[in-house]
Amino acid sequence: MVKYARLDENSLVKVTVSVLVIGFGFSLLYSASNGNSIGGGVSSPFVDKTVEGDDGSYELAITASNDESMEIQKGKCDLAIGEWIPDPSGPVYTSESCNVITEDQNCMKNGRPDLEFLYWRWKPRDCELARFNAVRFLDSMRNKHWAFIGDSISRNHVQSFICILSKVEAANEVYHAKDFRNIRWHFPTYNFNVTVIWSPFLVKAYNYEYKNGVKADGQIHLDVLDNIWTDQYTSFDYIVMSGGKWFLRSAVYYENNTTVGCHYCPGKNLTEYGLENAYRKAIKLVIDFILNSNHNATVLYRATTSEHFENGSWDTGGTCDRTKPFKEGEISLNYLDVVFRDIETEAFENLKNVGYTGKRKSLKLLDVTKLSLLRPDGHPGPYRNPHPFAKNKTAKVQYDCLHWCLPGPIDSWNDLVMEMVLNG
Ligand SMILES: *[C@@H]1O[C@H](CO)[C@@H](O)[C@H](O)[C@H]1NC(C)=O
Ligand SMILES: *[C@@H]1O[C@H](CO)[C@@H](O)[C@H](O)[C@H]1NC(C)=O
Ligand SMILES: *[C@@H]1O[C@H](CO)[C@@H](O)[C@H](O)[C@H]1NC(C)=O
Ligand SMILES: *[C@@H]1O[C@H](CO)[C@@H](O)[C@H](O)[C@H]1NC(C)=O
Ligand SMILES: *[C@@H]1O[C@H](CO)[C@@H](O)[C@H](O)[C@H]1NC(C)=O
Ligand SMILES: *[C@@H]1O[C@H](CO)[C@@H](O)[C@H](O)[C@H]1NC(C)=O
Ligand SMILES: *[C@@H]1O[C@H](CO)[C@@H](O)[C@H](O)[C@H]1NC(C)=O
Repeated sequence: MVKYARLDENSLVKVTVSVLVIGFGFSLLYSASNGNSIGGGVSSPFVDKTVEGDDGSYELAITASNDESMEIQKGKCDLAIGEWIPDPSGPVYTSESCNVITEDQNCMKNGRPDLEFLYWRWKPRDCELARFNAVRFLDSMRNKHWAFIGDSISRNHVQSFICILSKVEAANEVYHAKDFRNIRWHFPTYNFNVTVIWSPFLVKAYNYEYKNGVKADGQIHLDVLDNIWTDQYTSFDYIVMSGGKWFLRSAVYYENNTTVGCHYCPGKNLTEYGLENAYRKAIKLVIDFILNSNHNATVLYRATTSEHFENGSWDTGGTCDRTKPFKEGEISLNYLDVVFRDIETEAFENLKNVGYTGKRKSLKLLDVTKLSLLRPDGHPGPYRNPHPFAKNKTAKVQYDCLHWCLPGPIDSWNDLVMEMVLNG
């Protein structure tokens, strides 16, 4: 098990700096619905000048990528441990053949020139992992309802999922919310439905987004789940959910409608609660809800994934120009991802102590942390916008080194999903 320092006052700066980094991912969220570029993101309130220069701490990385710390699933084969090997077969869909890819992740359409990153597959150390078989999958999922619940990375994931399935049958979009954050697709031949739900904290949260550059005071209720997903819970047969990153946001935390502290709220007379305490509480609430529900859904909790900004952060010219995966030992998880990951693995370790197996629920950790860590080449980078260098080959553009190109390495997450759901 990895040891990490508590996020006490001494490490607050690290956290704050990373808030800036992640802020870019957030600002992308606002634009995803209408396809606008995020020009405004550059000057978003995430750029807190008092800490911006303190980037030494952001570079801090602790060695966490040894096999022992990554070991979650026991049993015959740990899908989370392995390497990327060349695979000439490439992706099953293209940016033209799939119409659900949002512009920000449509890298090839946006002019990404190098394509080598498409020709790798994840090879677990102790077994073969079959590529996603969409025909077999849909056939097994007749009359079922899947949900993807979480933040913009969940949305990235559901788009990959729909694109792969669409090779067999085109999906009809049967519902979307005004802002396109909640969408449902229907595969008519199979009466198979897929819903994506925007719930970045999984618990009830108000007023947490920046609107027109105005900083909002996020109010996060650590004892109340977000009813946008709990209200629909009994209609879901399978759920892929995730959380975490948004807890980096400065926020005031509540329990029983009473403030219990905050995260990064200078100027407020509140004590620092610790984002790790908040996330731990949220995950526990989610798991307790699932275990205590009379409804039997299969739930995969997707573990945290890293961004790959190099030579700067999202707002200081950081880039991700690599064109190949890392090999074992070439990179380690950064401080905050270790924090998130430890909370997730700890929550699942704890399941063993609560009579979980007796409840015969299916609740598993979808462990994509390491295989994603090894793919610095899979992000949109500058190609989150169309043809960023068309007018000026040396233009300075903002990179996205957090979300994933479609097609891209995120497609492999579905290979794990299929294995865990149909063979696990
Ligand atoms: C899927 O959605 C369709 C259309 O919204 C609905 O008629 C059908 O009952 C749903 N099926 C499942 C399995 O959820
Ligand atoms: C919230 O209220 C309930 C019932 O009044 C009480 O049992 C619980 O201790 C309270 N929790 C906190 C954190 O105040
Ligand atoms: C918190 O306040 C809301 C809105 O006023 C209310 O509906 C809810 O029951 C309250 N929760 C608790 C635990 O008191
Ligand atoms: C801050 O909160 C404490 C404890 O609630 C209180 O005693 C103190 O007066 C507050 N300070 C300010 C400046 O409001
Ligand atoms: C980062 O900067 C160093 C030194 O300028 C350079 O050698 C390296 O290629 C850069 N890395 C990336 C990913 O741009
Ligand atoms: C719940 O679903 C899982 C996975 O399909 C199954 O193994 C388990 O037996 C079910 N539990 C109950 C109580 O039906
Ligand atoms: C291209 O972008 C670079 C970097 O921002 C800038 O210095 C240069 O003046 C630009 N060239 C033209 C022709 O706009």
